[in-house]
Amino acid sequence: MTSRISLTVNGMTRPLADVPGSERLLDTIRWRLGLRGTKEGCRSGECGACTVLVDGVSTLSCLTLTHEVAGASLTTIEGISDDPVGRTVQEAFARAGALQCGYCTPGFVMALVGLLKERGYAAKTEALLEDLWVNLRRCTVYLAIARAVASLPKEGP
Ligand code: FES
Repeated sequence: MTSRISLTVNGMTRPLADVPGSERLLDTIRWRLGLRGTKEGCRSGECGACTVLVDGVSTLSCLTLTHEVAGASLTTIEGISDDPVGRTVQEAFARAGALQCGYCTPGFVMALVGLLKERGYAAKTEALLEDLWVNLRRCTVYLAIARAVASLPKEGP
């Protein structure tokens, strides 16, 4: 069975037709909405590559059904620079050179933005990193990501 739902995606209302009840948010984002910045990794909640914000909360889109978030406000990596926290995190990653192939980068950026929105800029670097390391990476970029997190302003942007 399919139905029509609506999402606010990066600030724009997006009506979606014929959405099957089993459709994952990850597939909606990548294939219906064409926003390929959200990456597909394990599809089982293990890697964090698919992380987006749903109503400001960091969410694994591979474990979320699109119907579960009907009516919600969705932010993907494509919309993150419109957000002051998102812009700050992107700048910190850029300054630290925190990417290699870049595949895991959107998931890390979105996860860190979610953590900062939840805890604020005063959160300890070590605590942020501990939670951020549930996201997987296949290279040595974690050293640069740690530098990026440590360089975040403690008072906010
Ligand atoms: S693709 Fe969602 S956690 Fe890996």
